[in-house]
Amino acid sequence: MSHKHMIWCDKDTLNKDLTGKTYLVTGANSGVGLETTRQLINQGAHVVMACRRVDAAKEVAASFYYLKGSYDIIELDLANLWSVRKFVSLFLQKYQSLDGLMCNAGMVVMENRIQYTEDGFEKTFGVNFLGHFLLTELLLDTLKNTHGSRIGILSSVVHAGSSKQRYKVHLNDLNFINRKYNNFAAYGEAKVATVQYAMELAERLKEHNVTTASIHPGWARSNFGSGGNFFVRTLMTLAKPLTKSISNSNWESAQTSLHVLLSDDVPKHSGAYFSQHSVLYRDKECKKGGWPMESPNPNASDMKAAQKLVEKSYKLVGLK
Ligand SMILES: NC(=O)c1ccc[n+]([C@@H]2O[C@H](COP(=O)([O-])OP(=O)(O)OC[C@H]3O[C@@H](n4cnc5c(N)ncnc54)[C@H](OP(=O)(O)O)[C@@H]3O)[C@@H](O)[C@H]2O)c1
Repeated sequence: MSHKHMIWCDKDTLNKDLTGKTYLVTGANSGVGLETTRQLINQGAHVVMACRRVDAAKEVAASFYYLKGSYDIIELDLANLWSVRKFVSLFLQKYQSLDGLMCNAGMVVMENRIQYTEDGFEKTFGVNFLGHFLLTELLLDTLKNTHGSRIGILSSVVHAGSSKQRYKVHLNDLNFINRKYNNFAAYGEAKVATVQYAMELAERLKEHNVTTASIHPGWARSNFGSGGNFFVRTLMTLAKPLTKSISNSNWESAQTSLHVLLSDDVPKHSGAYFSQHSVLYRDKECKKGGWPMESPNPNASDMKAAQKLVEKSYKLVGLK
């Protein structure tokens, strides 16, 4: 049975015929990304599945054979900026339009020990934000040239923090050189960056009819956080049945992403944060979620900070 605060896409949205439309979903082989992909194909779309593990993508895609639309799989490792560039080059050789980009892939380091991307960035920030930043920027012209296109970026309830601790992006110390590393803080900060980026992009793209949004999908019973040592893995496995009544299936967790990509209402709120219900919000009034809702973290809606983030990110990924 669904949670009483579950927010569902309306029937019209999930019945739209998407024949002829092209979508790109990162991390399409698992969890929220997989259910988002499955529904888009079900509605007739062509979905480019951008996945780190191509074999895993092929395996899940075998179940799409009865659906109306079609798919393609292209390798993408967001922890490697060369891989992002290679992905875009292959994508642009094949496709001239892009109706929706869902920056869905994400990870958290499960042990409290810093890890790095191929390019030397703290991995959580590198994968959740920086890889998606480069991907999005390299696809912007295609998105601008596709009428009414949309960009969704997965954030998390974690970005909100609590009234005692509101995460912010430490632009001057992204690699935790002058502060103690904390894996959950790194995740919270990376997810603040995704909310800021969606907001900044909306401002930049407002003349181009491209709608952007950041998303909290709910507490998905996906593969998220399945890494870590034996103790952490055992704890996560044991916790799953206990948290069933307050968490969401992957289908439920895909609702917010599908709403952002498909609902007629979303362009009225470009740049906003859309959240499924979540018991994990520390601020009581946020637990019901909202499409859209205001983030309780003022850093997430700080446009000046967002612009600085984007300026710095251009340099970090070698675009300026
Ligand atoms: N689960 C939750 O409760 C929850 C809550 C809030 C926000 N989110 C966000 O929702 C999004 C989807 O997560 P999920 O719950 O569906 O988790 P999931 O089942 O673990 O899926 C995550 C996807 O991201 C991919 N990924 C990880 N690192 C990557 C990399 N370096 N390059 C390319 N792809 C990479 C994974 O690929 P592999 O299969 O190869 O690892 C997988 O396809 C994430 O952004 C996550 O932060 C999840």
